[in-house]
Amino acid sequence: MQDETARHGFLTRFFHWAVALLVFLMIPAGFVMIQDGLPQSVQNTLFLFHKNTGILIFALMILRLLWRSLRPPPPLPENVPGWQVWAANLTHRLLYALLLLMPIAGYVRVKAGGFPIETLDAWGVPALVPESEMLAGIAKTLHFYGALAISAFIALHVLAAVYHGVVRRDGVVARMWT
Ligand code: HEM
Repeated sequence: MQDETARHGFLTRFFHWAVALLVFLMIPAGFVMIQDGLPQSVQNTLFLFHKNTGILIFALMILRLLWRSLRPPPPLPENVPGWQVWAANLTHRLLYALLLLMPIAGYVRVKAGGFPIETLDAWGVPALVPESEMLAGIAKTLHFYGALAISAFIALHVLAAVYHGVVRRDGVVARMWT
């Protein structure tokens, strides 16, 4: 059954799919780059990609949230049960929070550890945190558990999309499609 509910606007869809694609690459890159025994050049390339793409994701998320505050999303179709609307809102909020927390924790882990973030350094952005082993350690732990949590919530989000797209066919997925 197709629903006539309004689609998301172009910019909303752009932010959604751009962030989705980048995060889809970032998570495996993050887990692979910390493995022992990787060739140094592969590890360096993955770190370079991971740190700088993570900053790009943060910038996209800020723009996305600003845009969302100006243009709130259309409500879900009326035939979606109340508990699913509630669960969707909660998952989306947690995903937004994690998509801000992950780059911040990554940034603090790297800068407090005294390492470079090439794009920010090239633009002359000063380090916003002092060098501190303790701070770097706390941020590393947060980043690690955040990585597990974001992987779980993305899996839930994709399962929900498959359920709406394949089982219910209620137009919820089509609203975010290109
Ligand atoms: C949405 C953005 C991000 C996602 C989804 C993400 C995901 C991950 C994942 C899955 C790992 C492997 C698990 C772990 O050891 O923590 C990881 C590791 C790491 N990430 Fe990120 N990350 C993001 C942003 C960033 C940013 C912006 C930076 C730095 C500028 C960064 C720096 C690191 C570092 C240094 C590690 C290795 C941790 C260590 O063992 O020291 N990440 N990330």
